[in-house]
Amino acid sequence: MSFTKIAGTGSYVPERVFTNDDLKQFVDTSDEWIYTRTGIKERHMSTGEDTLDLAYKASLNAIESSGIDKSDIDLIVVATVTPDFAFPGVSQLLQAKLGIEGVTAFDINAACSGFLYALQIADKMIKSGGFHNALIVGAETLTRLTDWRDRNTCVLFGDGAGAMVITESKENNIADIITGAQGDEDMLLYCKNPDLKDPEVNAISPQDHIHMKGAEVFKFATRIMPKTVQDLLERNDLTVEDLDCVVAHQANQRIIDKSARDLGIDMDKMFMNIGKYGNTSAASVPIAIDEAIRTNFLKKGDKFITVAFGGGLTWGGALITL
Ligand code: UT7
Repeated sequence: MSFTKIAGTGSYVPERVFTNDDLKQFVDTSDEWIYTRTGIKERHMSTGEDTLDLAYKASLNAIESSGIDKSDIDLIVVATVTPDFAFPGVSQLLQAKLGIEGVTAFDINAACSGFLYALQIADKMIKSGGFHNALIVGAETLTRLTDWRDRNTCVLFGDGAGAMVITESKENNIADIITGAQGDEDMLLYCKNPDLKDPEVNAISPQDHIHMKGAEVFKFATRIMPKTVQDLLERNDLTVEDLDCVVAHQANQRIIDKSARDLGIDMDKMFMNIGKYGNTSAASVPIAIDEAIRTNFLKKGDKFITVAFGGGLTWGGALITL
């Protein structure tokens, strides 16, 4: 069995920046409230670009940094809750836009944990010996699902994409991945698809928007993220001292602060970029990993854990040496 490693990463966010002050034209809020409760100062919003366009630009960056010829990629997995079409998937359109012939390409949905799920699937497919080089993408245009009258949610989200190329390796760099789910029967976090269609009426039903019970989601997040990190450490006979850093899903600065406190990890080891992007769902983890690498926060040889939680409810974590 071959092992796997990260060969390259990339990210892309749309040009338009929407500050906390900009949000005041839609809802009764303030920069002070948003920043102190979430750590968010601004987010990027797509105006002319679809999820595919964001995924494509992030993928070009990741492929370039990997040094792998795009024709050698044999698997594409895209994690998204905001595909441009019910079908074809973003992954299949991405395959065509990149001009990669006939590769296996599919989308998955595990909300904000989606990138960890995609990484786990691709990692296992390469380790099975059936595939060699995978392009994994988290891409979202979440602002298309935002209710701009709901101050509880509209201040949180942003658009963007992150990508990673993983490849077979002699060293066991992508050492372990955990994912899990717990069906959200209490509807803490959801966005419904259009209603079932009655052929007699055949009415067009409108697109729903994001609904969230914030305090409950906060409790879930601050329980599951430290637990996932702890589980990864324990099953690999490691302690937090063995980690160079943690790259967590950027949903709320306070969730990351509390998780770090509970784990006994210094905040200096927690990568943060939520201030600039808000919560970009499945794109959050790969954007953060790419930025951590490009800013030298994460260096060659560093051992780190990346961890996420999300709608579903879902969670995931990976122990990786860069
Ligand atoms: O992928 C999605 C994952 N989702 C998350 O990670 C969300 C997790 N939850 C959170 O991050 C936090 O619960 C929030 C940031 C969403 C909310 O923070 P909170 O400290 O839990 O505030 P709250 O919901 O308890 O609201 C406190 C007050 C309320 O006013 P009253 O009832 O005390 O008068 C809200 O109406 O703050 C009010 N409020 C706002 N005020 C100004 C809620 N949103 C806003 C706002 N601006 N944007």
